[in-house]
Amino acid sequence: MDSVNIRGGIALQGQVGIQGSKNAVLPVLAATLLAEGTSVIQNCPRLADVYHMQTLLKSLGCSVTREKDRLKVNTDGMNGPRALSRDIPKEAVESMRSSIVLLGALVNRTGEVELAYPGGCVIGERPIDIHIEALKQLHVTFEEKSYGLHACTEGLKGAEIRLPFPSVGATENVLLAAAGADGTTILRGAAREPEIEVLCGFLNACGADITGGGSSTILIRGKRKLRGAEFAVPGDRIVAGTYLCACLAAGGEVLLTEAPAKQMGAVKKVVKAMGALWQETDRGLYIQRGEPLRSPGRLETAPYPGFPTDMQSLFLPVLALAEGSCLVEERIFENRFHIVPELRRMGAKIKQTDPKTVVTEGTKQLHGARVRARELRGGAALVIAGAAARGETIVDGCGYIERGYENICRDMRELGVRIYGV
Ligand code: EPZ
Repeated sequence: MDSVNIRGGIALQGQVGIQGSKNAVLPVLAATLLAEGTSVIQNCPRLADVYHMQTLLKSLGCSVTREKDRLKVNTDGMNGPRALSRDIPKEAVESMRSSIVLLGALVNRTGEVELAYPGGCVIGERPIDIHIEALKQLHVTFEEKSYGLHACTEGLKGAEIRLPFPSVGATENVLLAAAGADGTTILRGAAREPEIEVLCGFLNACGADITGGGSSTILIRGKRKLRGAEFAVPGDRIVAGTYLCACLAAGGEVLLTEAPAKQMGAVKKVVKAMGALWQETDRGLYIQRGEPLRSPGRLETAPYPGFPTDMQSLFLPVLALAEGSCLVEERIFENRFHIVPELRRMGAKIKQTDPKTVVTEGTKQLHGARVRARELRGGAALVIAGAAARGETIVDGCGYIERGYENICRDMRELGVRIYGV
C-alpha cells in the first residue's frame, strides 16, 4: 500500500479489535532463540517488522510457521555455535531498529555474533551505547568491524548493572543475555514499559527465573534451561491509542476490544482532561468524545509510566482541534515533529519553538490535503487528521504505517471512516 485516501469529517461509530503488540512480540520472538524445541506465540500481528524478524530467525536455522495469528518457532535446527553476518541478511537487520535485541539473545545462545548496525531513523539517531556498556558488564567483548559489530563471550557472568537511562531495548538485551549468565544479575534503572513485563513473562514461561519485570530493579537468576512455551501477546497499547485519537479528533464513540487499558494510565489522564468519556467495560475500552474538546494545556513525554512518546504524534491532530493551546514537549527522541508541516497544510495551527517543543492552538476544522508520511506514528497521525478533516486527504508514504498496523484502513472502516488504500 503506497497511499491512503480518506474522505473525512464524519464522526466515528463502531467497534474494532486491537491487534497484538508489535513492540512486545519482537523481543519475544528474539527470546524464542533461547528456548529448546517449539514456542507458540499467539496473537502475533501480521506486520512488516514481524516478517523481518521471521526472516532473521529462519536465517539462523529456525523453522517458523504461521497458522492464523499463531506463530510457531522451532529452534532445533539452529546453525552452529556462532551467528555470522554472512548468514544473517543485512537488509532485514538494517530495515528494523529492533533487530538490535538479537544481540543479547544470540550472544547468550551462541557465544559469538556478527551483526550489522540497526541504523538510525528520522525520529532520532538512536545510538546503542547503553546496550553495549550493559552487555560488557556481563562479560561480552565488542569489536567494530566493516560489517558492523562483532560480539563474543567466553561465558556470560551475572553482574550488578545500572542503566544511565531506562532504555527499553537495552533492558531487553540485558534480560536476553543475563538469562544465560552464570549467577545472578541485578539490573537497576531498568525500563518499566509493559513490553518488559511481557518479555519477562515469556522467559519465565520457558523456565527462566526473573523477578521485578515492570519495576526499575529486575533480578535475573541465570543459566536455567529454557524450553519453548505457548504464550499470548497482549493487545497493542499504541494501536488502541491511535483509534482512540481518531475518535477524539473526528468525534463520535468507539469500543476498542482487546485494548490493554490498564497499560494506558497516562493517556487516560489526558483523555479525561480533554473532557472525553473513558470507560473500561467487560467488552473493551469505550471512548466517547465530549463537547467541547478541551486542550490539556501541557503534554510532556516520559519513560513509562509517563506519557508515551509514541502517542505524542498521534495526539497532535487531536490537540490541533481542541479548544485552547497546548505546549507539547518531546523528551525521548530528538526529532519527533516531522509531521508538523504536513498538519499545517491541513489547516492546523502548530508552532515549533525548538526541535523538542511545539505549541498547538486549537482550530475548529482541518481540511483535506495531500500529505506524506515519513515514519510510522507520524504516518498514522496523518490518517487521524484525514479522518477528522473536511474533504479528501491523501497520505503518501504508507509503507511506514504498515510497519506497525496490520490494516489501518480495515480497522478505521470498522469505525465508520471512509478510507481505502491504493
Ligand atoms: C522502543 O524503542 C520502541 N521500539 C519505540 O517504539 C518507543 O518509542 C521507545 O521504545 C520508547 O518507548 C520497540 O520496542 C521496537 P529506547 P527503543 O532504547 O528500545 C536513547 C514505535 O513507533 N538511547 O528506550 O529503541 C534513544 O536514542 C517505536 O513503535 C541512547 O541514547 O527505545 C532514545 O532517544 C519508535 N542509547 C531514548 O534513549 C542507547 O543505547 C529511548 O530509547 C539506547 C537508547
